[in-house]
Amino acid sequence: MNEKPLPPVLVTRRLAPGVTERLAASCAFDLHDDDLPMGRAELLKAVRGRSAVITTLDDVVDGEFLDAAGPGLRIVANHAVGTHNIDLAACAARGVPVSNTPGVLTAATADMAWALLLAATRRLGEGERWLRSGRPWAWAPNFLLGVELAGTPLGILGMGRIGQAVARRARAFDMPVSYHNRTRLPEEQEQGARWLPLEELLAQSPVLVVTCPLTAATRHLLDAERIALLPAGAVLVSMTAGIVDEPALAAALDGGALFAAAVDNFEHEPAVPAQLLAQERAVLAPHLGSATVRTRQAMGNLAVDNVLAVLAGGRPVTEAG
Ligand code: GLV
Repeated sequence: MNEKPLPPVLVTRRLAPGVTERLAASCAFDLHDDDLPMGRAELLKAVRGRSAVITTLDDVVDGEFLDAAGPGLRIVANHAVGTHNIDLAACAARGVPVSNTPGVLTAATADMAWALLLAATRRLGEGERWLRSGRPWAWAPNFLLGVELAGTPLGILGMGRIGQAVARRARAFDMPVSYHNRTRLPEEQEQGARWLPLEELLAQSPVLVVTCPLTAATRHLLDAERIALLPAGAVLVSMTAGIVDEPALAAALDGGALFAAAVDNFEHEPAVPAQLLAQERAVLAPHLGSATVRTRQAMGNLAVDNVLAVLAGGRPVTEAG
């Protein structure tokens, strides 16, 4: 009876129902069965000797993490489309492939961008808070007026899968779309959207949605100076943390340069800058872009597919790069 031991796998967070269990047939897995992330020391200890790890954006995967895991680590499967928690170069240097979960969260995230866009332009957060506070109110011609979308130009910063899905939804709102991306898309993929240089896009976008991935090149791309290029009274929706400088955004709201803003996730989660919390015109969501039952199931399954593919001797299904 000389059976090979099953490869040890660490799952750093409770996943959607039924997902982690798929590892059971071919792996010996340990699950951090919690909705809160592991502490750093706990994570470094838990990853020791693993063949594979399923991580979330809260788990920093750097040289220290890889050293802690040891030479047997064969894949880091991130349960996210973003990989900014991972030092990709350090993983590549050690020959450890990294996977992410692209595609399966596109629709949910684009829907959330629109939910936030609508909430910000139509002042839904303010209205809700007003009612819940018990303040007196009455319908009035000038009560909580918002920005109308039909005919209003929509700018999209980052025209990847999610940006394109946001653009498709814009058609139903009769909004002409412009975008900025490092490289212009092939015309058939643009579907009528117009590529503009970054500064021009900002200047021509009364409503701007930010969907580009966070990289060294995009960190704080929208600083105070660039936010100031938006038209007076613009509405900014941020779907990727770290691109928009949060204090600068709060200052632009405070000074009245922006009409409203919406932010789905934050640079130093779970911290939310006090300046943003203080803004009535900021719609703030606790990182809900991909938070639907169907999408979280799909993300979990894709992370598991990546692990199983590599442990079976293949390449990851969706390798990040
Ligand atoms: C969410 O923020 C993700 O990158 O999946």
